[in-house]
Amino acid sequence: MRLSLIAALDAAGTIGSATGGLPWDFPRDREHFRATVRDRAVLVGHRTYREMENWFHSEEVFVLTRTPHISLFLPGHRRVTTVAQALEIAAELGLDELFVIGGGATFTACLPFSDQLILTRLETVIPVSDAVTFPNFERSTDWALEQSETWPPSPDQPCSARLEVWSRRNTS
Ligand SMILES: NC(=O)c1ccc[n+]([C@@H]2O[C@H](COP(=O)([O-])OP(=O)(O)OC[C@H]3O[C@@H](n4cnc5c(N)ncnc54)[C@H](OP(=O)(O)O)[C@@H]3O)[C@@H](O)[C@H]2O)c1
Repeated sequence: MRLSLIAALDAAGTIGSATGGLPWDFPRDREHFRATVRDRAVLVGHRTYREMENWFHSEEVFVLTRTPHISLFLPGHRRVTTVAQALEIAAELGLDELFVIGGGATFTACLPFSDQLILTRLETVIPVSDAVTFPNFERSTDWALEQSETWPPSPDQPCSARLEVWSRRNTS
């Protein structure tokens, strides 16, 4: 089973803020995100889960939290306390892929287990005083850039951007 992280980050690695929400309006990326994870199983941190309340429909959703009792939005959603637990249940369910959709703490917890990174990279720094960031995966040699596509500036994005797909190098 493949674990894929999908995120949008600016040139400083910012993905959001400690007070919540995305620091940009990026319709093209929203469309890309929806198209990629539609009808797929997702793993999401408790904060982002609450933030995205109206976004979830029938997806299989694993909510990462240490809080003993949380309210879940839909019957298919389940609480998990560790990434390993999510992977175990996903394997039991026979899922071929699980998409990690954030936020920062959840990306950091999942990175060591992940096989693929699907990143929309804004080519500018968006100033955020209480930035939440994507883990700095590029300082390790574990990752190889497999695909890169330039998104030139257009009305449905804040600046030019690149869509990158990274895969974990096979070390065996
Ligand atoms: N740009 C993007 O691609 C993107 C994507 C998603 C979200 N975001 C942004 O990211 C920001 C939120 O990120 P965040 O880091 O504050 O929150 P988060 O990762 O969404 O959720 C954090 C919560 O998840 C649980 N958690 C995290 N790591 C855990 C672990 N190892 N084990 C068990 N539970 C764990 C904890 O819940 P409990 O406190 O309940 O224990 C923790 O408080 C927001 O600004 C959001 O808009 C950006």
